[in-house]
Amino acid sequence: MSKNKIVVAYSGGLDTSVMVKWLKDNYDAEIVTFTGNLGQTKELVGLEEKALNSGASKVYIKDLTKEFLEEYAFPALKAGALYEEAYPMACSLGRPLLAKTLVEIARKEGANMVAHGCTGKGNDQVRFEVSVGALAPDLKNLAPLRTWEFKSRDEEIDYAKAHNIPVAVTKDNPYSIDDNIWGTAIECGVLEDPTVEPPADAYLHTVAPENAPDEFEQVIIEFEKGIPVAVNGKAMDSVSLVTLLNEIGGRNAVGRIDLIENRLVGIKSREVYETPGATILHFAHKELERLTLEKSVAHYKTQIAQEYSNLIYNGLWFSPLREALQAFVDKTQKRVTGKITLKLYKGTVRVVSRSSAYSLYDPALATYTAEDQFDHTASEGFIKIYGLPLKTYNRVEQKVESEIKKLRIANGTLG
Ligand code: ARG
Repeated sequence: MSKNKIVVAYSGGLDTSVMVKWLKDNYDAEIVTFTGNLGQTKELVGLEEKALNSGASKVYIKDLTKEFLEEYAFPALKAGALYEEAYPMACSLGRPLLAKTLVEIARKEGANMVAHGCTGKGNDQVRFEVSVGALAPDLKNLAPLRTWEFKSRDEEIDYAKAHNIPVAVTKDNPYSIDDNIWGTAIECGVLEDPTVEPPADAYLHTVAPENAPDEFEQVIIEFEKGIPVAVNGKAMDSVSLVTLLNEIGGRNAVGRIDLIENRLVGIKSREVYETPGATILHFAHKELERLTLEKSVAHYKTQIAQEYSNLIYNGLWFSPLREALQAFVDKTQKRVTGKITLKLYKGTVRVVSRSSAYSLYDPALATYTAEDQFDHTASEGFIKIYGLPLKTYNRVEQKVESEIKKLRIANGTLG
């Protein structure tokens, strides 16, 4: 009988494969692995066998793609959540769901510990551990990569060989890739030099703008209460809809992001992302809000978006503040229902048409034709009162300035 029972967040890569055996020995533990499918392109076949051969006694593989989109990515879409105004946070949004599922499995299995394979200098370790801590304050979190004896990949490979841990002997990929249905993050290798343009082979899902078709592609997206529900007139479930937009965006070079980003741990890093579907949806959603949100709500919401993005990026999905901001955001989406027509062309997205049953655009007010209903005479009184504080201020200010000038002339100090 082992002393401990540990549920390991397992990807099947070198780090987590070595981790299974290492934890089993170093903690005298029974190991259960959990792998969440968030719609990543990497094959999950053979993973169960691999985990068992690495020393796990039980394996969980769960498809969380639908839950990921509907409970994490779409709420963030409604909020307009782009970290540092650019990154739709595919990775940041996935971690709380993986942590939540890890905790559920730990409870079911009666485990006393959980472990992840994040490094000691990234954001993901924080997201995992803060989320687990919030959901299960009594569970112990382990992060072997921060503490174990291996100093390099080669040392891990030696350990794996010595213990018959199966590691795929593939051609070395120079990049570290984290990938799900909401987007792909590509790091390491030559990308660490921010002066160097990412080579073509860094991208998995998008063509380069110069290789995209010479014709634009039109896409019509329909939203209901801020949630995308149909593309090009066809109602679709969340997973099919985002998968389709990833394809459409990818072939038109939409969604490449090359970003110098501030990590929570204080490091500036150069991140390359591909997020075709998320980029299209954020753009379209914003356009629909321009049409349907009352002015002060629209303006206030952009401030909320920044705070909300920081919370998610910084691992605080399961916090009362994120939940309170979500309640605000959800309330604003009551009338964000309608249709946006976009044209995609060589990496660009533009809106060409928008419509909504709740459109606040009033042609009778906006028009410059004879149909105009706007009361022009009302503007006179409005401007008088609106500009009154500035008039009052400058009346005094100009008097003071001219008196100072007179004094300086009298003293001969002007000039
Ligand atoms: N910088 C991004 C984030 O913090 C992506 C992290 C990618 N993670 C990885 N394991 N490669 O959300």
